[in-house]
Amino acid sequence: MTMTRHRILILVGHPDPAPERFCRALAEAYAKGAAEAGHEVRSADIGPMDVPLLESQAAFQADDIPRLIRDLRADILWADHLVLVFPLWLGGVPAKLKAALEQVFRGGFGFEVGPRGWNSKLSGRTARMVLTMGMPGAIFRIVFGSHGLKAVTQGVFMLAGVKPARASIVGGVEAIGAGGRTRWLERMRKLGAAAS
Ligand SMILES: Cc1cc2nc3c(=O)[nH]c(=O)nc-3n(C[C@H](O)[C@H](O)[C@H](O)COP(=O)(O)O)c2cc1C
Repeated sequence: MTMTRHRILILVGHPDPAPERFCRALAEAYAKGAAEAGHEVRSADIGPMDVPLLESQAAFQADDIPRLIRDLRADILWADHLVLVFPLWLGGVPAKLKAALEQVFRGGFGFEVGPRGWNSKLSGRTARMVLTMGMPGAIFRIVFGSHGLKAVTQGVFMLAGVKPARASIVGGVEAIGAGGRTRWLERMRKLGAAAS
């Protein structure tokens, strides 16, 4: 049986560049599993990046984007599977990750919205969101309706035609202990191997 060799971009969306953030360990485990299974992997990390805030609709429609964002776009276009790893901050993506997404998707990159709906430009790609959080995953799903996740899967990736956007909700990240973390890392390795 021949295996499809995927091109996977793993983006760490954690504003804190400290290597001990669990998001980085999850991203590395995914990358390791993917590389071991023969997939091509590129990694990017917004932690050390200098990401300017987008401040007007005119800027969103223009396309004079910073160099780092241009590189990120090239990686997104190269990939057929996108993995976004981020912590839940105040119910959603951290502001720096949101700023990076706004920069990437300006100038009609990814999708364009017009009077007849939207035109997706990244169709044919799949995605996985990996989000860590202090609260238990079940609370996030049931009480919060996963809205911080949907803001990205629907507000960005669905418009861009990226589907399915699967999700791993890593709840209770401060409470699960070393055993719980090891199990998540193993799960990430397997997802990476399956390019899922
Ligand atoms: C500014 C800030 C806001 C946070 N907001 C939430 C939140 O709304 N819900 C939640 O469950 N956890 C929240 N947390 C906890 C983080 O989600 C948790 O620290 C993170 O997922 C741990 O992963 P890391 O080691 O990669 O940082 C918040 C943490 C910070 C620093």
